[in-house]
Amino acid sequence: MSLFRTKPVEQSIKDAEGGEHRLRRSLSALDLTVFGIGVIVGTGIFVLTGVAARNTAGPAVAISFVIAGVVCALAALCYAEFAATVPVAGSAYTYAYATIGEFPAWIIGWDLMLELALGAAVVASGWSGYFASLLKNFGIYLPSSIAGDEAVFNVPAALIVFLLTGVLVAGIKMSARFNGVMVAVKLAVVLLVIAAGLFFVKGANYRPFIPPSHAMEAGEGMKAPLVQVLFGVQPVAYGVFGIFTAAALVFFAYIGFDVVATAAEETRRPQRDLPIGIIASLVVCTILYVAVSLVVVGMQHYTELSASAPLADAFRAVGQPWMATLISIGAITGLTTVVMILMLGQSRVLFAMCRDSLLPRSLASVHPTFRTPYRITIIIGVATALLAALIPLSAIAELVNIGTLFAFVIVALAVVILRRTRPDLPRSFRTPFVPLVPILSVLASAYLMFNLPVETWIRFFAWMALGTVVYFLYGRRRSRVAAATTPGEPVLGR
Ligand code: ALA
Repeated sequence: MSLFRTKPVEQSIKDAEGGEHRLRRSLSALDLTVFGIGVIVGTGIFVLTGVAARNTAGPAVAISFVIAGVVCALAALCYAEFAATVPVAGSAYTYAYATIGEFPAWIIGWDLMLELALGAAVVASGWSGYFASLLKNFGIYLPSSIAGDEAVFNVPAALIVFLLTGVLVAGIKMSARFNGVMVAVKLAVVLLVIAAGLFFVKGANYRPFIPPSHAMEAGEGMKAPLVQVLFGVQPVAYGVFGIFTAAALVFFAYIGFDVVATAAEETRRPQRDLPIGIIASLVVCTILYVAVSLVVVGMQHYTELSASAPLADAFRAVGQPWMATLISIGAITGLTTVVMILMLGQSRVLFAMCRDSLLPRSLASVHPTFRTPYRITIIIGVATALLAALIPLSAIAELVNIGTLFAFVIVALAVVILRRTRPDLPRSFRTPFVPLVPILSVLASAYLMFNLPVETWIRFFAWMALGTVVYFLYGRRRSRVAAATTPGEPVLGR
């Protein structure tokens, strides 16, 4: 049963207060909200809106954004309770350790690498595409061997990752300031899109708002959604089902609000500020997404939207190419903060795992001046840069979605379990209607997971199998919780 030994909440909190492994508490609720917006608004709204409207939902893509927002809101309510109760770096990993046990916690920590490190690499390679296209506007052409999807070594992607690694090592407050500036630019561009776009909206483009459904070509073999293979369901485009299918796609646009929880140990008043940061950033982004998608499908008929740069191209189509340049700048700054904060989240989760000795503990040491986990941050920077530079990632981007959704499922379950096992813990934020909200959250996340392709599931299981091997070869024996336990005794006192 040692696989399910738990780490008491009190112990996690105590570890976070200990000397050389202590981070600097300097973030406020506003910093966290800006962090949240920094990591959420990115590829999803700047790119996916076009594909989702054109191929799957029509103008009703705005409803898809609302649905994906609701799925995330359910998860956010669960994350908020945990973040306030166990304000420790590590997010879902730490919550699982406190409730379900060490092995599931390890599995979640391993799974989060898909959301965080892989997510950062995917967005960094998207960043390099925008960067190359912006340079083109100024007459500078990068050879395709060093930038873009077919690059042998994607140089801009690697460089941006290294630059951001430097910012992350230099300190959390420095990262917050850098993020603040970039988020201001990105928000200004998004608001400009909404305000300027309104002048070009034509009522006729909204008709029909929900185009009539028709059967889609069945996804071939490995590309078919798992739900289709399991139940023989025929996927449809448009119509009400199309709205839901598009919701699974635009879910990517919301990924990141949960990363706010990983900054728990750097928050001045975590009990109050983490729930605010998580929920406020999600609410702001949902409003922006619905507004942007309504404007874009109003500017251009959904059948004509571009798949790679829908916002910029909608403005080109109405004779405003200068807006297209501005939008590219907004997208570049926007994606920069997404990459940075996903890496920040990754460093904090691995930091927590190293501190528990499930990975080498020496990697969890904090820089004496900057008070950041610099060793682990640099390792993540190098790994992410290599991943972004060498591997064509668009094919495996859906692994990011499945990794995130799996963490949502576990966190929702863990809320219910901790309410039962530790009803006594002080909870400054309580998920409403437990167990209803967590159960709905599990069902909603699972629904989106089942809409992902079979090949994504196979890769997901392969990654998890690798993680299991690493655990049995390393973490199981070295775990600090194990060291504090005599065989057969409860762990660390409880
Ligand atoms: N939500 C982030 C994006 O859209 C991951 O890029």
